[in-house]
Amino acid sequence: MEVPLVEVMAALPLIELKGVQRQYRMGGDTILALDGVSLRIERGEFVAVVGASGSGKSTLMNIIGCLDVPTAGTYALQGKDVRTLDDDALSTLRNREIGFIFQNFQLLPRASALKNVELPLVYRDVPVRERRELARRALERVGLGQRTAHKPSELSGGQRQRVSIARALVAAPSLLLADEPTGNLDTATGREILELFYELHAAGNTILLVTHEPAIAAACPRTVRLSDGRVTSDGPGSTAERAVAPALHGESHAKVEESVH
Ligand SMILES: Nc1ncnc2c1ncn2[C@@H]1O[C@H](COP(=O)(O)OP(=O)(O)O)[C@@H](O)[C@H]1O
Ligand SMILES: [Mg+2]
Repeated sequence: MEVPLVEVMAALPLIELKGVQRQYRMGGDTILALDGVSLRIERGEFVAVVGASGSGKSTLMNIIGCLDVPTAGTYALQGKDVRTLDDDALSTLRNREIGFIFQNFQLLPRASALKNVELPLVYRDVPVRERRELARRALERVGLGQRTAHKPSELSGGQRQRVSIARALVAAPSLLLADEPTGNLDTATGREILELFYELHAAGNTILLVTHEPAIAAACPRTVRLSDGRVTSDGPGSTAERAVAPALHGESHAKVEESVH
C-alpha cells in the first residue's frame, strides 16, 4: 500500500541544515558569517538561538526564513532544498511557511493595526472580507481586539510588537521566526511578549527565537548557541531558571484555547 503524501511530509523534519556556510565579501576580505552549521528542527519545537553580537544569529534566521541562501551546504524546508527553487518559488514558500517578527516591528506607520496584519493575506489574494476577519481574529489572539483601528504611533512598544506577532500569525505559517523580539522593549514588557510566545508554542506553533536574555534561553526546552558562525552547544536550557516559563513546562495558560493551524 502506498503511504499518503501528507504522511510522508509529516515525517520530514521541518528544517534541516547540513554544513551551511554563508560568506560575505567585504573589499578584499571574506567573512564567514556561518561556518558549517548543521541543525534539524521538528514541527512543534520551541528553540532559542543565543550567542554574542556578530556570531551569525541573524544570518542563520535569514537563511532559515528564505530571505537569503547558503553559499555552501544545504538547507531543506519541509524536505525542499531551497537551492532548487527560483526567486519566485522561494518567495512563495516564504510567504506560505514563515512568519517573521523583528526587533524593530517593521510595521507600516500610516496603516492601522488591522491593515498591517492583513498584509500577508493581500499577497496571497485572500478576498477582502475574509482578510479582515482573519486579521481581526489574529489581533484578538494577541490581546489587541480593542485596538484594530490604531496606527503604530498610537500604540506602545509592547502593543506594536503584538501587532507584528499577529501579522506573523495571520496566515497560519509552519514556523515563527523572531529575531530579538524584545530588544526594543523594557524588561517587564519583554517578559509579557515572551509569555505570548510560550502560549503560542503551547498552542502548537513551531518557534525559533533569537534572544540576548540568558534566563529566557535557559527556560526554553532547546537552546542553540552560536559562536563565530558555528554551533557550540545544542540542548535543553538549565533547569534552575525554568520557573520563568511555566507555560513551557506543564502549566498551560487558560488564554490559549486553540492552535492557529
Ligand atoms: N550584509 C553583510 N555584509 C557583510 N558582512 C555581514 C553582513 N551581514 C552580516 N555580516 C557579518 O556576518 C557576521 C554575522 O552577523 P549577524 O548574523 O548579523 O550576527 P548576529 O545577528 O549574531 O549579531 C558579522 O561578522 C557581521 O559583521
Ligand atoms: Mg542579529
